[in-house]
This record gives sequence, C-alpha cells and structure tokens, in this order.
Amino acid sequence: MADTLTPPQPTLRMHLFDASGGLGYHLRALHHRRTLWAPFIAQVATWLDSWHVPTTHLVIVGPSAGYTLNEGFLQRFDRVTVLEPDPLARFLLRQRFPRIRMDCETLDCLSAGNGPQWLAQCYPDASILFTNVLGQSPALSTLPRWMDELRTALAGHFWASWHDVLSATTPPLADGDRPLEPANTLPELAGRCWRWPTEVCDHDSFGLVGRQEGLALWHLAPGQWQIVEWGTHSP
Ligand SMILES: C[S@@+](CC[C@H](N)C(=O)[O-])C[C@H]1O[C@@H](n2cnc3c(N)ncnc32)[C@H](O)[C@@H]1O
Repeated sequence: MADTLTPPQPTLRMHLFDASGGLGYHLRALHHRRTLWAPFIAQVATWLDSWHVPTTHLVIVGPSAGYTLNEGFLQRFDRVTVLEPDPLARFLLRQRFPRIRMDCETLDCLSAGNGPQWLAQCYPDASILFTNVLGQSPALSTLPRWMDELRTALAGHFWASWHDVLSATTPPLADGDRPLEPANTLPELAGRCWRWPTEVCDHDSFGLVGRQEGLALWHLAPGQWQIVEWGTHSP
C-alpha cells in the first residue's frame, strides 16, 4: 500500500438506476424480501452473528437500504460509516435503523484508481464489511490485479464480504433453504449446482477474501439464482 495517497480521492457518483442497485433493487426487495429472499437473509444473519471483530467502528460498503442487515448486528458498533452511492438507499437505510448512528460518506473504494488503498487509509481503525457488492465491481472483472490490491490494502484490517460468485437463470440442484457445502474450486461448485447445458455466469469473485467461511443460495427473483460466498479476514 502507498504510504500516503495523493488527492483527489475517488468519489462515489450518485446513481438511482445502477445495474447492481438503485430503484430496480428496491422494487425487488419490496416484492421478495419476506418470501424468496427470506432463507438467504437468515443465512446472512447467521454469518454476521458469528463475525466477531474487536473494533467499535464499522464501515459498510454497498448496504443499499440494509435489507440483509439487522439491528442487533449494527448495535455492536459505536459508529457505522456507510459508503453507498444510491441516495434513496441511504434515506431508507436511516428509516429502517433510526437508532443506529450512521455517517454516509463519499469515498468510492471500488474505484480502479487506488480505491482499496484509500479505504485502508481513510479508516485505519475500522472493520470493513462488503455487502454483496464485490461480485458486481467492474474493477474486479476488468483489472486482474485489483483483487490482490484489495487484499494487500486491507491486510491489516478486520474485513469480510459476502458476494455473488455464480448466477444462472435456471434453478440449481442445491436445496435453497440450506447452506451449501464448502467448495475448493469454482468448477466443482458450478458442477455441483448446475448441469450442462445451463449457462452459468462467473462473477470472478470466488475465494476473494482468501478464506471461504460459507456458501449460500440466493433466489434473487423468479428466474434468477445466485451462489453467494462469505469470507472473512483477520490481520
Ligand atoms: C446488489 S446490491 C446489494 C445491496 C445490499 N447490500 C444487499 O445485500 O441487499 C449492491 C449495492 O452496492 C451499491 N454500490 C454500487 N457501486 C458501489 C460503490 N462503488 N461503492 C459502494 N456501493 C456501491 C449499489 O448502489 C447497491 O446498493
């Protein structure tokens, strides 16, 4: 990591219609969060429950309106910083968790221009939580070294991520209400969940944190399934 980064720092560009969030995502949440999404949200709660970090400050990247977060988890921290470009999401997030002290800030830590290094430098004492955002990060798929830069930049932090690793438009063979068995490789996981000729999309994010702690199936919408990985890092 660079000792001191030279400004300007990358800044989030407000969006309401982004492919990975925005208005479409809120409508989906409205329709599915208590039904199709319920098993996945319960699984995320279990993951968060078991993630214990010694910091009082948490930075959450891409929470949207916190549909997969819960108050009990957020209450563990004295201070929560939110990095989320969608203004409606930020508004709804505050409505959903009025008792949590949150600061919404503008760093774009997913930027190809030293985003991870800025993240580490701006929040040296915080734990970092990526909430289903890295699997859609353009930098991850277009810049082969970006994942290594992220790991290097955050080596001294407690950090965790759940992120989509595979998606498909046909139902997987796996049982959606149960966590999936750990997988050593992506082809192994894909082969376990789908059979030829299903087209499966690879999000280039398998094993990105370094340590895989869990896998779950998310039935995101009718005709849309994702395999999501949970990984944590301790310095
Ligand atoms: C797939 S949604 C996940 C939302 C939420 N974490 C959840 O699990 O329900 C991805 C979120 O990342 C946000 N996002 C997109 N680009 C981002 C960036 N550069 N920094 C932080 N958040 C970003 C989107 O606005 C969206 O809310």
